[in-house]
Amino acid sequence: MKTKPLGGTGVQVPEIGLGVWQYRGGVEPLRHGIELGANLIDTAEMYRTEDVVGEAVRGMRERVFIASKVSGDHLGYDQVLRAADASLRRLDVDTIDLYQVHWPSRSTPIEETMRAMAALVDSGRIRYIGVSNFSTTELTEAQAALSHHPIVSNQVLYNLRRREIERTLMPYCQSHGVTIIAYTPLDSGKLAGGGLFSSRGTKVLREIAQRHEKTPAQVALNWCVSHDNVIAIPKSDSVSRTAENCGASDWRLSAEDMARLDQAFA
Ligand SMILES: NC(=O)c1ccc[n+]([C@@H]2O[C@H](COP(=O)([O-])OP(=O)(O)OC[C@H]3O[C@@H](n4cnc5c(N)ncnc54)[C@H](OP(=O)(O)O)[C@@H]3O)[C@@H](O)[C@H]2O)c1
Repeated sequence: MKTKPLGGTGVQVPEIGLGVWQYRGGVEPLRHGIELGANLIDTAEMYRTEDVVGEAVRGMRERVFIASKVSGDHLGYDQVLRAADASLRRLDVDTIDLYQVHWPSRSTPIEETMRAMAALVDSGRIRYIGVSNFSTTELTEAQAALSHHPIVSNQVLYNLRRREIERTLMPYCQSHGVTIIAYTPLDSGKLAGGGLFSSRGTKVLREIAQRHEKTPAQVALNWCVSHDNVIAIPKSDSVSRTAENCGASDWRLSAEDMARLDQAFA
């Protein structure tokens, strides 16, 4: 499994991690993914999957990078601290490696939220601060609210069909060393071959997959992580599909394949 740096932390994270929103697979797919090097798991207080993540990493906590999130509805100072403590309990760990603000608040000032995030780092309850669903402006404001700690990542929607971040956010993150964690990288499974398989884009995806002896899901994920600073966190309930998704790493599409995919899904 190829790794990429997490922001400017010096920590390497796998380019394919394991998402657990609506996850019902139990511990086996997660443990298998970790064995294959996908040792970053992304959960959140609102996913109700922190307990299964805790169970999956028991006995091998030090091998796994755990990312969780505080709900965008809980961003007051005390609320953030309480949410983090509750996540630590459900995960049954001492530290959350990456704690992300799930979405920006319309009512709580970002300075208040970031003061709480900094306090969590200073007390050792979290290692790094991340955000999710933040625009370039929101990311800049969040960073400005922190005097001593960097924002190391922004988790956002990114896949062949959803490319909005390419205009402004992606170049900003690349030039400021903020890792982009691409969520819904398979477009909820649609890019993996299920259902809508008749568009021009998916035909090209299938052709390229056949030529590389890969699956459409592997090509779609490889396309994501072929971009600088981008890692992807597909979710699968199944051991075999988790293994398939891990097989999206350790090889690269050619520049020509990338250009064809870009054009076909433009
Ligand atoms: N920060 C945010 O606001 C936010 C929002 C959405 C998602 N996320 C994160 O991103 C993660 C992934 O996003 P997602 O769950 O929305 O969508 P996704 O990973 O694009 O797609 C998941 C769907 O694809 C199927 N699938 C996975 N691998 C497959 C394969 N190799 N072949 C065929 N089907 C496959 C899964 O079914 P099976 O499980 O049956 O394999 C599931 O139905 C989430 O789990 C979560 O951690 C974050």
